[in-house]
Amino acid sequence: KAPPKRQGNAAAVWAAVRSEAKTCTRCPLHRDATQTVFGEGPLDAPLFFIGEQPGDQEDLAGRPFVGPAGQLFDRSLAAAGVDRSRAYVTNAVKHFKFERRGKRRLHQSPDAGEIEACRWWLNQEIDLVRPRIIVALGASAARAMLGKAVTISRTRGEAIALDGGAEGWVTVHPSYVLRLPDEGRRAEEQARFIEDLRAIGERVK
Ligand code: URA
Repeated sequence: KAPPKRQGNAAAVWAAVRSEAKTCTRCPLHRDATQTVFGEGPLDAPLFFIGEQPGDQEDLAGRPFVGPAGQLFDRSLAAAGVDRSRAYVTNAVKHFKFERRGKRRLHQSPDAGEIEACRWWLNQEIDLVRPRIIVALGASAARAMLGKAVTISRTRGEAIALDGGAEGWVTVHPSYVLRLPDEGRRAEEQARFIEDLRAIGERVK
């Protein structure tokens, strides 16, 4: 089903969609999460980044990519010479999915049904921003962007023509880099992530 036709300028439409998303019940994740975490950034951004879902800190703050993964993402963008103000940043899934362990809330990956349900919002964000480049950070984001499961290692580093005219790119999720136990590997993977971001940034210079 297509979303309703909406009246008004992009900012007004974005605010209306964001407001509707606050009471979303399209999948069960709204039950345990604190709030919907919608995307943010300039609506004329040439770059559009998709993460997986809000983490613990994003769930509490109501904003995407403000926790440890977000900080690594920001540092990597800066190192790649990509201006964050030219990027809209959102998530494939807009509610935090977790498992309780005592006081801690441990991240759980969203499943295919949750990702599919939440494309309702993602696609409206993409239609509003009409970015030149969409970047999927990790497998959940790639699934949301492409509508099917793909392998990061096989899709990384090449432009994918998307329906709607944008160019799609797939790279790793910053949490993947953060979770690598070996410091040397972590440094290597962060460098590779920065290289991906640099190559993507070059295309909108
Ligand atoms: N990880 C994500 O994928 N998105 C966020 O907003 C935070 C962490």
